[in-house]
Amino acid sequence: MPKEVVIVGAGIIGCAIARELAARGTPAIVIDDRPVGGGATRASAGMLAPYVEAHDPGPLLDLAVRSLDLYDDWIAALRRDVDGDVEYRRIGTLEVALDDERATELRLAAAAHARVSTTWMSAEEARRVHPALGAVAGALFTPGHGYVSAPQLAAALAAAAERHGARFHRAAVTAIAPDGPSYRVITSEGAVEASLVILAAGAWTNHIDGVRTPPLRPVRGQLLQLGWTGAPLSSIVWGPACYIVPRTDGSILVGATVEDVGFDERTTAAGVRDLLEAACELLPDAKRATFLDARAGLRPATPDALPVIGPDPDAPGIIHAAGHYRNGVLLAPITARVVADFVVEGTRDSCFDAFSLERFF
Ligand code: GLY
Repeated sequence: MPKEVVIVGAGIIGCAIARELAARGTPAIVIDDRPVGGGATRASAGMLAPYVEAHDPGPLLDLAVRSLDLYDDWIAALRRDVDGDVEYRRIGTLEVALDDERATELRLAAAAHARVSTTWMSAEEARRVHPALGAVAGALFTPGHGYVSAPQLAAALAAAAERHGARFHRAAVTAIAPDGPSYRVITSEGAVEASLVILAAGAWTNHIDGVRTPPLRPVRGQLLQLGWTGAPLSSIVWGPACYIVPRTDGSILVGATVEDVGFDERTTAAGVRDLLEAACELLPDAKRATFLDARAGLRPATPDALPVIGPDPDAPGIIHAAGHYRNGVLLAPITARVVADFVVEGTRDSCFDAFSLERFF
């Protein structure tokens, strides 16, 4: 019986890799005890904003910019692959300063990224262009940023992967046992013989016995969805305590809390209160918004907040693709590409050095 390429994890990273591999003639079996996008992905606002998430130059910013550069073509190809739509808009981010100190920080951050186009707006300008804003000291607009619907994206990637021959299997992966040059993937539903195993189970990756995994911890993010009735919002609004994503259905997403509470995926009164207060400070009309939903997800964080991507030097048939922390959706296309390049062509991307598992051992 031919051995499988197994992907552990059906979140945004696992689905992106499955689709990339299948489209290149290597259909994998994706194993997860949750449905597609049922972990951190379902509570992600799908922010695509490298210059907000990684202000400082370094490997994360480089990888995030490479990934964002892939996004237009990646979504276009996905839309050709599947019928369902994926909401994806590059509407820019407006980083709002509520005081002069933050305004100075934002202007310095913009100057540090001279190669990216940004516009500094005075308080008057920001409120003229974005009348929904409350009192601000100024704002930094980065037009290249955007968002994508993370649940729609995961579903479309999974459908495209299946169309190209990948299979999705609902089971809990408990252990991986070396078996000569290959591996036995032990699941709650039996064992699968694998030639390669790609670990993409987010914060749950190090619940798997038998292999080295990164030191991951779950960091809860709560996200609200509100029915917006205020002045139209033409870009993502990012304040000191929340970000707000205007969706095409007239709702807004308000995210996200950052909480070290272990594997607790519940929403809480305090989380909802904090996000509502932060949203109302940025956009006073949020007080009149209707409450639609609150959800929570667990971001997979490593100690240095960088992902782990690439083959395990001690076990070349084990490939890591986890620890994407706040940027799983943003980093999905580049992660899928470099992992598929390695699996299909044996090419080692230069990012494997910066994001190697070895840094933790
Ligand atoms: N990328 C935003 C967040 O993790 O909240």
